[in-house]
Amino acid sequence: MITKPKGTNDLLLDDSFKWQYIEQKYREICTNYGYYEIRTPMFEHTELFLRGVGQTTDIVQKEMYTFEDRGGRSITLKPEGTAGVARAYIENKLYADVQPTKMYYITPAFRCERPQSGRYRQFEQLGLEMYGSKNPATDAEVISLIMNFFDGLGIKGLKLNINSIGCPECRAKYNEALKAYFKDNIQDMCSDCRERYDNNPLRLLDCKVPICKEIGANAPVILDYLCDECKEHFEGVKSYLEILGIDYNVNPKIVRGLDYYTKTVIEVVSTEIGAQGTICGGGRYDGLVEECGGPQTPAVGFAIGVERLLMVLEAQGLLTGEKHKADIFIASIGAAANKEAFKIAATLRKQNVYAEFDHIGRSVKAQMRYADKIHSRYTCVLGDNELDTRIIKLKDMETGEAKEISIDELTKIFGGNN
Ligand code: HAM
Repeated sequence: MITKPKGTNDLLLDDSFKWQYIEQKYREICTNYGYYEIRTPMFEHTELFLRGVGQTTDIVQKEMYTFEDRGGRSITLKPEGTAGVARAYIENKLYADVQPTKMYYITPAFRCERPQSGRYRQFEQLGLEMYGSKNPATDAEVISLIMNFFDGLGIKGLKLNINSIGCPECRAKYNEALKAYFKDNIQDMCSDCRERYDNNPLRLLDCKVPICKEIGANAPVILDYLCDECKEHFEGVKSYLEILGIDYNVNPKIVRGLDYYTKTVIEVVSTEIGAQGTICGGGRYDGLVEECGGPQTPAVGFAIGVERLLMVLEAQGLLTGEKHKADIFIASIGAAANKEAFKIAATLRKQNVYAEFDHIGRSVKAQMRYADKIHSRYTCVLGDNELDTRIIKLKDMETGEAKEISIDELTKIFGGNN
């Protein structure tokens, strides 16, 4: 038997409606905040992620699905949505339009990580990007969208962590301070950290190896190194969050796993789903568009992991909705009646009714069991008698009531309902 690749999931029939529900709620809220959907390719030239996500990140160094295509080009399955959106924004000159540009997406992403609960090699992100505003109110607006989305799903108890990791100028000073702090212990740290020390000291704070974590525990924090502009921006973000009454926690240790961030970074965390509790990550990235060859463009965005979001919804008992229910099941006895059922179902479906009949020659009893399985609200049985009189008994499965009506009336009743 051929099985699915490690770290992937089949989305089966009892679950897909839950995803549709979440996606629909996400589309609604994005639309209300003025976002339009953008869809970018599942794969891009590898170069985009090297430049966008960053050469020194774990994603680029260890996790990308990179291959050579038949034309000898290096191609990578998207490990996240932001870099592709930046490329599309530049390539399609969206910057020439009135700003800001507000884009949302729902996309699979691919990372070759060690699979565990909440961490997969293909997962889905609900993300958005807003280009063209450096105003701290924009960061707060994006955060409010995230929190309102979670609220709208009924989720309680999530923690919003924010931080500022400054601009390249304050980062340079901070990197010096980090190097000074780690200098004496770097030999005891993992080989990745020894490289990070030279190439990107900020990444030293993102290492998951216990000894590296321990050594980094008292490292200087970026907030003490912010330049005046970055400090003012961060104060601005906090004040706008306060205006909106959004609870937040400043966590100066958040650095995030992607290199493009500047100033604000955010994470939303749940304590109910185990080690992979971060259900949303994002922040501001004012340098990425320029880095990818476009004009200087401030930007802010985030992405939510759908699998983790679902785990939180399940943990809080918020996924009580059922699969959609059939409006009517038309059972039949014999070939002629089955043909008539086929015809009635076709007519009803044209009128937007979820109508079903028997496809596989089952007994009436078995057909009724199937009607029950698809939660059909109404049922009727067609036999020779019904074909002669064109009168059927329509049974309401919720109330148990039955009434006699003509077949022609049936299409009118249901058609009128929709
Ligand atoms: P990220 O933090 O790498 O950010 O991913 C965002 C979310 O995707 C995470 O918080 C998590 O819920 C989910 N996620 C990440 N990796 C996995 C995985 N292996 N399995 C399951 N879920 C996962 C980004 O991707 C940025 N592009 C977000 C962003 C948009 N920043 C600005 N704009």
